[in-house]
Amino acid sequence: MPETLLLTGGAGYIGSHTALTLLRRGRDVVVVDDLSNSSAESIRRVNRLSGREAVFYEADVRDRGKLKEIFANHKIDAVIHFAGYKAVGESVAEPLKYYQNNLDTTLALCETMPQFGVNRLIFSSSATVYGTSQNVPLKESEPTGCVNPYGRTKLMNEEILTDYANANKEFAVTILRYFNPVGADPSGEIGEDPRGIPNNLMPYITQVAVGRRPKLYVFGADYPTPDGTGVRDYIHVADLAEGHAAAYERMKPGVNVYNLGSGAGHSVLELVRAYEEANGVEIPYEITGRRPGDVAQSYADPGKANRELNWKTKRTLRDICRDAHNWQTRNPEGYQKS
Ligand code: NAD
Ligand code: WQD
Repeated sequence: MPETLLLTGGAGYIGSHTALTLLRRGRDVVVVDDLSNSSAESIRRVNRLSGREAVFYEADVRDRGKLKEIFANHKIDAVIHFAGYKAVGESVAEPLKYYQNNLDTTLALCETMPQFGVNRLIFSSSATVYGTSQNVPLKESEPTGCVNPYGRTKLMNEEILTDYANANKEFAVTILRYFNPVGADPSGEIGEDPRGIPNNLMPYITQVAVGRRPKLYVFGADYPTPDGTGVRDYIHVADLAEGHAAAYERMKPGVNVYNLGSGAGHSVLELVRAYEEANGVEIPYEITGRRPGDVAQSYADPGKANRELNWKTKRTLRDICRDAHNWQTRNPEGYQKS
């Protein structure tokens, strides 16, 4: 019998790529997603690409009744908890929405999983928990500290899960701190599909590339970095998906925290140039002021994940740019027009 993973938020950007990787590796996948930031079309395409079938429940993870029904219907071996809201600016404007959803989804899982003997959980955390630290490359041991409500929900979730695992020794938690997930499956069938104006750099660039937006605004060119623009660790979403598969395969007792990043930092202008070169397009841009809350540079020391999960990133910045562009040109309006 294949092992079965429950993916909360599995219709979303990272969840759908992880579902594809797991299905291709012969795991069974159950997805619960309320589609608040995604489309069921992503799951239909994952099924087509993998030639297999993820079971899909359209439901809110906080709905304990529905969650019980899902655990009763399937023999779940582990949960990967992607579900949550992720827009930093929105979290500042509507903090309660973030605390309610991002924390209560985790509480609902912790309440329900033991009732069905499920005691392995992998949690989507973020490099945002390192706050304003500039101590690059960032190690997992770096002190945490968040600067916005979204980030605080990630840190609080890490703490809630750690407390819960300390009190329940059979409960194992793997916390994955993602750096900057970008790119798409090389098929161009699934990818990142933000609603409204993209908050993040790569989807903004891809939308400029297909003419949905006239130009990119580069938020600051006066940082203490080689070209003055912000430096980040961009990780191909397919590498990230493989990181989840590795984390599941190598899950250990207790609480274990891993950075998932490439270990390399690239500036905004480097990414723009790499995108132009990989795709033969021009990305017009204008340098504007810094975005509040941004740090000059953030990139991972992925050594712990390399060693303990036997995982490292394989895709290059060029692969990232090619695959992101392929997804956007095949789906200029995202999943909407499908
Ligand atoms: P996403 O918005 O594409 O996916 C999240 C999914 O969760 C969406 O499909 C949404 O509909 C669903 N969802 C939200 N609340 C729900 C609820 N109460 N019940 C059921 N479904 C719910 O985002 P993503 O980029 O795929 O991110 C996945 C996870 O990784 C999130 O927890 C996010 O905070 C975290 N993360 C993302 C990034 C990033 O840059 N994309 C970086 C670090 C961490
Ligand atoms: C990257 C670089 C910007 C947009 C965010 C969240 C973080 C995590 C990942 C979830 C920065 C610059 C951006 C634009 C620009 N998410 N930029 N013009 O800020 O590193 O991380 O997403 O956990 O929590 O904060 O990613 O893609 O927004 O920005 O110049 O239109 O691109 O200033 O230097 P960030 P990003």
